[in-house]
Amino acid sequence: MAKKPKGPRPLALITGASGGIGEALAHEFAKGGYDLALVARSEGKLAAVAKAVEAHGATAHVTALDLEARGAGADLEAIMAGRGLKVDALVNNAGYGVAGAVLDADLAAQLGSIDLNVRVLTELSARFGGPMRERGRGGILNVASTAAFQPGPYMAVYYASKAFVLSFTEALNRELKDTGVHATALCPGPVATGFQARAEFDASMGLTKLPMQTAEQVARAGFTAFRRRQAVVIPGGMNFVMAKSAGVTPRGMLLSIVEGMQKKRQDGSHAGH
Ligand SMILES: NC(=O)c1ccc[n+]([C@@H]2O[C@H](COP(=O)([O-])OP(=O)(O)OC[C@H]3O[C@@H](n4cnc5c(N)ncnc54)[C@H](OP(=O)(O)O)[C@@H]3O)[C@@H](O)[C@H]2O)c1
Repeated sequence: MAKKPKGPRPLALITGASGGIGEALAHEFAKGGYDLALVARSEGKLAAVAKAVEAHGATAHVTALDLEARGAGADLEAIMAGRGLKVDALVNNAGYGVAGAVLDADLAAQLGSIDLNVRVLTELSARFGGPMRERGRGGILNVASTAAFQPGPYMAVYYASKAFVLSFTEALNRELKDTGVHATALCPGPVATGFQARAEFDASMGLTKLPMQTAEQVARAGFTAFRRRQAVVIPGGMNFVMAKSAGVTPRGMLLSIVEGMQKKRQDGSHAGH
């Protein structure tokens, strides 16, 4: 049931809200008493999410924007200011990965993923975090991944980008201590969303056999941790254990395990699995 806030509803700006984890986060924040500003490239899907969250008593503003484009961060800040919207919660969720060896996978896509996962996340944290600090309240929820806890051969750029997100968010949270603003890193394991298709996963990859959580489970854990002002959350018991054990596993062994999960097999021996 939607919470009944006493004053006007605070506003959560959510990137990548047109589907997957971002859409589920939009519902969680709406249920938790927030109005929303939803950003992604697909205007029609955003409009559908905006309509759906009305059931929780939320008003949602839609912005169709390619965040990877140069200047998009400044454009988004100007759009929000032009509408007179102040951001109380920033959710940096938009992101993607590219499967394959660094030297073989699409280079433009790999660089684009760094732009979105790293550069834009950093830029929006700074642009919207500053006014939060001035007001003495607010929070940033950055979507990392369990990929953040180890290097990832055959998806190297993605794993490294998420290690950045985790490290950046923990450090930012420390810098914001005593300001009334906090930052939370949400580190999901595998979730069935549009992510796998965009990354060009195929059934030969060991990773695709791992148990998956739903976007709703992940969003619920992320919103709860955000509200508790927790620095890091890893939803799912198995994901938590695997992420924590990565820190004490010898690096060579870790690289072999992830290589085994990420590498596509060419021999067709996966047929039937
Ligand atoms: N699924 C998993 O297994 C998993 C696990 C751990 C972490 N994560 C992380 O969770 C986050 C959400 O991913 P997801 O799994 O929900 O994948 P998804 O279903 O593919 O959703 C990605 C979202 O980002 C948006 N987006 C992509 N490129 C964009 C761009 N250039 N500008 C603006 N918006 C853009 C997409 O919308 P448009 O296409 O409409 O732009 C979509 O709303 C990502 O950061 C991902 O790395 C996913």
